[in-house]
Order: sequence, then C-alpha cells, then structure tokens
Amino acid sequence: MTILAIETSCDDTAAAVVRDGAVLSNIISSQDIHDHYGGIVPELASREHVKGIAPIVHAAMQEAKVDIDAVDAIAVTYGPGLAGSLLVGCHFAKGLAMRHAKPLYPIHHIEAHLYSGYLEDPTLPYPSICLVVSGGHTSIFHVTGPTSYSVMGSTKDDAAGEAFDKIAKLVGLGYPGGPHVDRLARTGNSAAFDLPRGLIHEPTYDFSFSGLKTAVRREVEKMRSKGTELPIEDLCASAQTAIVDVLVSKTMRAADDLKVNAVVIAGGVSANSELRSRMSAAAEQRGIAFVAPRLGYCVDNAAMIAFVAQMRIKSGMTEGLGEQIPSFSIEPRPMRSR
Ligand code: KG4
Ligand code: ZN
Repeated sequence: MTILAIETSCDDTAAAVVRDGAVLSNIISSQDIHDHYGGIVPELASREHVKGIAPIVHAAMQEAKVDIDAVDAIAVTYGPGLAGSLLVGCHFAKGLAMRHAKPLYPIHHIEAHLYSGYLEDPTLPYPSICLVVSGGHTSIFHVTGPTSYSVMGSTKDDAAGEAFDKIAKLVGLGYPGGPHVDRLARTGNSAAFDLPRGLIHEPTYDFSFSGLKTAVRREVEKMRSKGTELPIEDLCASAQTAIVDVLVSKTMRAADDLKVNAVVIAGGVSANSELRSRMSAAAEQRGIAFVAPRLGYCVDNAAMIAFVAQMRIKSGMTEGLGEQIPSFSIEPRPMRSR
C-alpha cells in the first residue's frame, strides 16, 4: 500500500510518500518568514502553505519515484493546529482525492507524533510511554498497541517548547528558541541559577512551565537593572536542565508505575540534546528500550501522518475514514500567546 501524506498544521509545509512502512520521501519546508516576528503569524503561515503545497507534494512524489496513479490513499492532518494552515492542507488533499478518485484519511496530529517512535523502529515493543513535547503540546501517553493509547498527563500552562521559545526571547535569542538554547547551554553552567521545577513532586503526570519562565524573567530584569551583562550560556543551561529534570522525572515515573517495555520521546523538543541523553540513560538504567526518532520524524512531518493512516487501515480502524470526499472538518486550536 502506497500512501501520500500532507501535513500543514502549523508553520511547516510537509509531504511524504510511505509504502508498506518504508518512507520513500519525507519533504519538510520550514517557513523562515516568522523569525522576524519572534513567533508564528497565523495569516502568514497559511499564505506560505498556499505557495508551498503544490511544489512540496510534487517533490515528495518525485523523490519517491511515484506518480499519482501508484498512490493507493491520501492522508492529511485535520488537527489540532492553526485553522488557516489546516485548511490549506485539507483542501489540497480533498481536491487531489476527488480529482484522482483516491480514498482520503484525516489523521490527528498528536496521534501521529506519538507513533513516530514506531515509525523509526517498528520492532519497538508495546506497551510504551510516549512523551510528546512540542511548541504546542507537552503530554505523556500510555501506548498499549497500534491505535490504542490514553493520555496520562499534560501541561497546565505552557508547553515545553513554548517555555524554550519564551526563555530564548527573554535573553535576546531568535525564534524558534529551542535550538539556540540547546546550543548555548553546552558551554553554560546548569547550576548557576536555581530555577523552579514545576509540579516535580506532585503525584500527577501533569506539567507546569509558566513559573520557570517568570523566574527567568525576574533574573534577567534584576541583572539588566544593575547593568550586568547577561550570562546567556548559564541562563540557557540552567533553564534547559530545569525543563529536562521535570520531563525525565515524570516520564520515568510513568514508565515505572505502568511497568512498560519502552519509552519514546516525540515532537520538536525531542531534538534537544540534553533531553535525549538523559532520557536514554534513565531508560538504560531500567533495562527498557528507548527511542528518540531521527529529526525528520520528530519535527512536524508527513511521514508520521502516512504511518498512522497505514496503521489504521491495517487494523481495520477506518470507520468514517477513507471516503473520496469525506465530510470531516478541521479541528483547530487557539493560537498560543507569544
Ligand atoms: O513539533 P514542532 O516542530 O512543532 C510544533 O510545535 O508542533 O516543535 C517546535 C518546537 C519549538 O518550540 C522549538 O523551539 C522546539 O520545538 N525545539 C527545541 C529544539 N529543537 C526544536 N527545543 C529544545 N531543544 C531543541 N534542540
Ligand atoms: Zn507537532
């Protein structure tokens, strides 16, 4: 089965071709236009998707050496995401499906992130704990099989990626802030600032990062008012370690409580080097498998969308899916504050 997938939920225009679990192409085009504004501008995001969608889909099929006649089904992200962004991908996919008489599968973005570990390593055992950490989400899932999972906890305020982005902005770094913080933290002292680890001792699997952002703002304001030069590397290292401490502690507590066989991290923040190495060490200590998918499967991408569509088709969970002109609607979520 050959699936063409399209993902436009936020600010990446992505298309992929997956055949029987093998990723033949996975094209991701990131929109640099938002850097200038220090965050995503929804209207600009949808306009960029309009410009990019046809060439990106074409490039994905070309790289996979597959033409539309060889495509068995089309899959597309229906939510959550920005309304205008989702509309572009969904309408493009619907048009393609109608024109070429292909079944269309609307796929949930977070479900796709949480199975990206199985896209990376299909031999990964169930049950597993999956931490989805991105700019919009921070949740822990108990994954018991293909298409069967439950959410155990989520952030009460900011997502981890949002915390990285806001802290980066406070210390004068560009957007998205996560990769900048990750890079600068390597030469910083993570014990330089004593920053809060929200909810770390609470018995829930929920997160809170807004206190950390406020604490960093206070430190920055204090130093700026004294005219002290900001020790940016130390601030980055201290904030990153505070975030990673909470992510590792809660994820491993869930893994212990539910006695799972594997731990997966997914979403853009799972690219973070400290998170990857500390999560890997904690899993090894417990003798359980650990997967942090390659970058192209961690960030917003269409290969993960195709993978979930294929899993659903295989397991017969296609109720309401796969019609040529499905009546599904998009499921946007409100824009986070900058
Ligand atoms: O999953 P993603 O590409 O898009 C969504 O938010 O859905 O995640 C983007 C987020 C941004 O907040 C970005 O700062 C963060 O992932 N990020 C990182 C790193 N690379 C990307 N955060 C920390 N360390 C990184 N290396
Ligand atoms: Zn995402």
